[in-house]
Amino acid sequence: MSINTSNNPVKIAGTGSYLPEKELTNKEMEAIVDTTDEWITSRTGIKSRRIAAEGQNTSDLATEAAKNALEQAGIDGADLDVIIVATITPDTLTPATACYVQHNLGAKKAVAFDVSAACSGFLFAMEVAQRMISDGNYENALIIGAEKLSAFTNWDDRNTCVLFGDGAGAAVLTRGDETTGRILATQVGSDGSQTSILNIPGGGSACPKPSRDGEGEQPYLAMQGREVFKLAVNAMKRASEAVIEEAGLDAENIKLIIPHQANLRIIDAIADRLTIPNEKVFVNLHKYGNTSAAAMAIALDEANREGKIERGDNIVMVGFGAGLTYAAAAIQW
Ligand code: ACO
Repeated sequence: MSINTSNNPVKIAGTGSYLPEKELTNKEMEAIVDTTDEWITSRTGIKSRRIAAEGQNTSDLATEAAKNALEQAGIDGADLDVIIVATITPDTLTPATACYVQHNLGAKKAVAFDVSAACSGFLFAMEVAQRMISDGNYENALIIGAEKLSAFTNWDDRNTCVLFGDGAGAAVLTRGDETTGRILATQVGSDGSQTSILNIPGGGSACPKPSRDGEGEQPYLAMQGREVFKLAVNAMKRASEAVIEEAGLDAENIKLIIPHQANLRIIDAIADRLTIPNEKVFVNLHKYGNTSAAAMAIALDEANREGKIERGDNIVMVGFGAGLTYAAAAIQW
């Protein structure tokens, strides 16, 4: 576990997101597996999700989100010093998805690499980028959460396929000062004793040649939902309390909580435990489902572009994911 309260201010200069056009509603899911709109809505809050087009890869989603963030920040790809893509659904095991994005953006001088921290990944990327800028060696960083989960979803398994979607979100981080807003505190952590409750068992070196015909470990997301649920609520509560305290905030002066978008019941439980009213909690999972590392990045961009956060507002982002990983950030906008 690490708490980061850096002295040299780092601000978020722009955000962006991209969602694939194809929408897959709960009603349409009823034709794919034995489920109902009512079951999905009441258990998760999800109504719909987006699905990437054939041939549209994670790096393509990431590039579109990045372009929006760069435009808002008023800089070009060529100005970037760092590109970090958080994803569990890379285009290829190697090279990193960030390298494809670097090429797409013409970001020739940027160092580009991926982080794998599942749904917490965007905040892991924020932690790393912030430290790189704060140390003084880098100026402009692009952090992206991007996923094509539809490619790693077992479309015969109703326990998982109703939950996930595709998308990407991005943010440009740069040097700030006392007047421009800043990342106030971040926390990232991992609990490697829980690798078995949420994973993609096939496709790595432990099982390099999985087949999709039922033989061996499968390259599909697998999850023990109830176990994940319990651990998620506790880990998110602890992480958000840590950054709230470190940043000197309280329930009153927090404008918005942007939690990972996995399940409305988890979000409600977090808000309840932090005694934050529901109207201060950003939710968009009804539209997109769980997009893992992309979820908080997309939510941040939507909250920003919808005017839900303004200069000077304090926000808290908090998430958890496979690993188990957990992360939180307190940000003054
Ligand atoms: N439609 C209809 N019935 C279903 C469906 C479905 N899509 N899926 C499961 N069911 C059934 C089950 O088979 C089970 O039936 P049974 O009682 O006859 O065996 C019943 O519904 C209840 O299943 P549970 O798993 O107990 O349902 P639960 O209330 O726990 O909800 C859920 C499941 C939504 C997955 C919940 O546990 C959850 O949200 N967990 C957290 C998951 C999460 O947040 N993951 C995020 C991390 S993802 C990442 O990091 C990439």
